[in-house]
Amino acid sequence: MGKLDGKVAVITGGTSGLALAGAKLFVDEGAHVFISGRRQEALDDAVKKIGRNVTGVPGDAADLDDLDRLFDTVRQEKGSIDVLWASAGTGEQRKLGEITEEHFDATFGLNARGTLFTVQKALPLFNDGGSIFMTGSNASLKGYPEWSVYSASKAVQQAYARVWLAELKDRRIRVNVLTPGQVATPKQEELFDEATKRQFESLIPRGEMGRPEEIATVALFLASDDSSYVNGMELTVDGGTAAI
Ligand SMILES: NC(=O)c1ccc[n+]([C@@H]2O[C@H](COP(=O)([O-])OP(=O)(O)OC[C@H]3O[C@@H](n4cnc5c(N)ncnc54)[C@H](OP(=O)(O)O)[C@@H]3O)[C@@H](O)[C@H]2O)c1
Repeated sequence: MGKLDGKVAVITGGTSGLALAGAKLFVDEGAHVFISGRRQEALDDAVKKIGRNVTGVPGDAADLDDLDRLFDTVRQEKGSIDVLWASAGTGEQRKLGEITEEHFDATFGLNARGTLFTVQKALPLFNDGGSIFMTGSNASLKGYPEWSVYSASKAVQQAYARVWLAELKDRRIRVNVLTPGQVATPKQEELFDEATKRQFESLIPRGEMGRPEEIATVALFLASDDSSYVNGMELTVDGGTAAI
């Protein structure tokens, strides 16, 4: 028996990296998974890689009309949701003094605003007893120079989780934050050269970045009844980086 047998899960930004690893695992554990992303080709590839019990819905998680299309598709195909993993996120280095309105608006527009509307628009479809979690970042727990906008845009999620769990307690819907540290994903390849990656790895107690699969297993924990007494928590998965 799978840990998510018969469950419907929605994962934004599920076509790559750690969320794609989570989508694969959720399907292996018996769920039907809806994944979203902006690039059609990446979406098609991801659907192919997952292979079964998956629906790809193109769209930008910062765009409210696209979010409506995502949840309309879920309603038409499955009728309800048990698990929502709001994982689509964005961030780039920008030193104080060089932060532009565009950088701020794009970062908060997806990480803070888009995440909020993803959850709000999913709610009418949510089954009682469901699980909502968002992808944070341990950047919000540390003082990494040049990452203030990203760090702040992820820090809001802990505040969301606390308030929303109180608002949703009568429906027994849990709200948590999954907070990764450095994980080797395509986004990392795009953002960092080898020297920067080694520099980040020097901050990790085991000296080696996380793998997407190491985030996926924690996502499965938060999605499933294994975490039935875990609510309003920020679950940091960073090999101990933020702890020292
Ligand atoms: N990798 C790390 O070290 C790390 C550490 C801490 C936190 N995180 C967080 O983990 C999440 C995933 O990161 P990752 O490293 O796995 O990145 P990734 O490999 O680049 O994957 C990101 C996924 O999100 C999608 N996406 C990006 N912007 C989107 C948008 N506006 N609407 C919908 N989908 C969007 C991408 O597809 P499209 O480009 O086609 O839209 C892709 O499927 C992010 O929230 C990131 O901030 C990552």
